[in-house]
Amino acid sequence: MENEVARGAEAVVTDSEYIGRAAVCKTRPPKGYRFPELDSRLRMSRTRNEAKLMHEAKNAGVRTPCIYDVDLSECRITMERVEGRTVKDVLESNPEMASGISVMIGATVARLHSARICHGDLTTSNMILCDEGICLIDFSMGCGNATEEDMGVDIRLLERAFTSAHPGMESEFSTLIETYYDGIPDSKAIRKKVEDIRNRCRYT
Ligand SMILES: Nc1ncnc2c1ncn2[C@@H]1O[C@H](COP(=O)(O)OP(=O)(O)OP(=O)(O)O)[C@@H](O)[C@H]1O
Ligand SMILES: [Mg+2]
Repeated sequence: MENEVARGAEAVVTDSEYIGRAAVCKTRPPKGYRFPELDSRLRMSRTRNEAKLMHEAKNAGVRTPCIYDVDLSECRITMERVEGRTVKDVLESNPEMASGISVMIGATVARLHSARICHGDLTTSNMILCDEGICLIDFSMGCGNATEEDMGVDIRLLERAFTSAHPGMESEFSTLIETYYDGIPDSKAIRKKVEDIRNRCRYT
C-alpha cells in the first residue's frame, strides 16, 4: 500500500515511485459537501494551476519539485519526492538555523515574484529545506502574471504565517523581508502595498 505522507483539507499526499524515481502523488479527492459539477471543476483547476505554476517557477530558477505526470481525471499530480524536512519542522527543532534560512526564504520569494509568480499560501509548511536550499511546494492557490497587489498579499500572508508559527523570531523575519526587498526590482512600490494591506486589514 502507498504510504500516506500528509492529508490536508483538500489533498492527500502519498509516497510513490515514477519509473524508478522516488515520487509523491498529490491527489484531490471529491468533496461530498460541494455540488458535484462545481467540485470537479474546482479540483481540476487547482490541480492544473498547481502543476503549471510549479513548472513556471522552476523555469524562473526557483527550486520546485519536478512534475512527472498530471492526471486531470483523478485530479492527481505525480512529482519528484524532495528529500528534506519542512522549514516549519527545522525552525522548531533547530532555531539556531533560523537566520540562514530566513535569508534563503527572502531570496527565493524575491526570485519568484521577479518572475511575476505568486505562491498564494506562503507558510513554512509549504517550504522544504533540501540540499539546494529552499524548495517551494503547494502552489494550488497561486497565480501567474501577478500584480503588485498579488505580491503584497503574498508577503503579508507570509508575515502573518511566519510570525504566528514561529513566535520570538521577529528579527529573523526582518532579515527575511529585507533580503526579499533587496532582490526585487521595484521594492518601493511593494513596500507601500504591504503597508496599505496591513492598514486595510487593521481598519476593516
Ligand atoms: N514533492 C514533495 N516532496 C516531499 N514531500 C512533499 C512533497 N509535496 C508534499 N510533500 C509533503 O506533504 C505535505 C503536504 O503537501 P502540500 O502542502 O502540497 O499539501 P496540502 O497542504 O495538503 O495541500 P492544499 O493546501 O493544496 O490542500 C507537505 O507539507 C510535505 O511534508
Ligand atoms: Mg501545504
